[in-house]
Amino acid sequence: MSEQHQLCFLNGEMLALSTAKVSVLDRSFLFGDGVYEVIPVYDGQPFVLDTHLQRLANSLSAVRMPCDFDFAGLVTRLIEENGGGDMAIYIQVSRGAPKERNHLIPADLEATVFAMTQAFPAPSERAMKTGISAAICEDFRWQRCNIKATSLLANVLLRQQASDQDADEAILERDGMITEGSSSSVFALIDGILRTPEDAPILLPGTTRDRVIDVACDLGIEVVSRGISKAELYLADEVWISSALREVMPVTRLDGRAVGDGLPGPVWKKVYRAFQIAKRTC
Ligand code: PDD
Repeated sequence: MSEQHQLCFLNGEMLALSTAKVSVLDRSFLFGDGVYEVIPVYDGQPFVLDTHLQRLANSLSAVRMPCDFDFAGLVTRLIEENGGGDMAIYIQVSRGAPKERNHLIPADLEATVFAMTQAFPAPSERAMKTGISAAICEDFRWQRCNIKATSLLANVLLRQQASDQDADEAILERDGMITEGSSSSVFALIDGILRTPEDAPILLPGTTRDRVIDVACDLGIEVVSRGISKAELYLADEVWISSALREVMPVTRLDGRAVGDGLPGPVWKKVYRAFQIAKRTC
């Protein structure tokens, strides 16, 4: 951990990350009962902050966790206290720590609000030159993946399943249709049209995905939100993943086979370049 990222926020206080502690009765510890966001920051400016805060509000409301908190103010404070520049901000809101373990949602419990920053993970040169690999895995998560919940055990196991096959990401498939990655959104270029699955409760509406769509449309690329079957993904000319931490990356190997000619495609290259400009100018 670099010195720049040692100050975190916990329940109203800024403190050293190494000294921050929560109760073992906290419901995010016992039940994974919490929601979160990961917000990229470029040159000290949070990227698509309103979209992240709206999704956080949606997640809080979906899990019945009313939380009247100034998250925009928290983001500003964390950036200032941690030296600005490029970073990622993690915000987690847990239902809080009651006096005893009980599945039932306790009334009037004060939420635990935690936030920290981390250095922005620069993609490796290899990843940008040759692309990354993915394995298609059966999506065995719950039916409410549009909620950005901290209960990520299924995502963790799926990512590990892909890693066990030497793949960098798990691309998930439910009933023959692609949903998303274990921690990313998925795009496929098919017959010159950029496709990404339409919003549904079984996938997270990606904030980066939406920005990539804007950038692609500005470049005159046709984009549609429509289901992608597993068979179509295998035959796509290009496959990409996107997320707040990985921006937009080309997938060049899928289940051990080459995607297109096995190299990052020309459409990805154009969108990636335009995204690099967009992220520092909006
Ligand atoms: N996750 N789908 C899932 C399951 C994700 O976990 C993420 C991102 C995305 C992409 O969303 P966005 O573009 O808003 O980051 C899609 C974050 C980065 C994480 O869990 O670390």
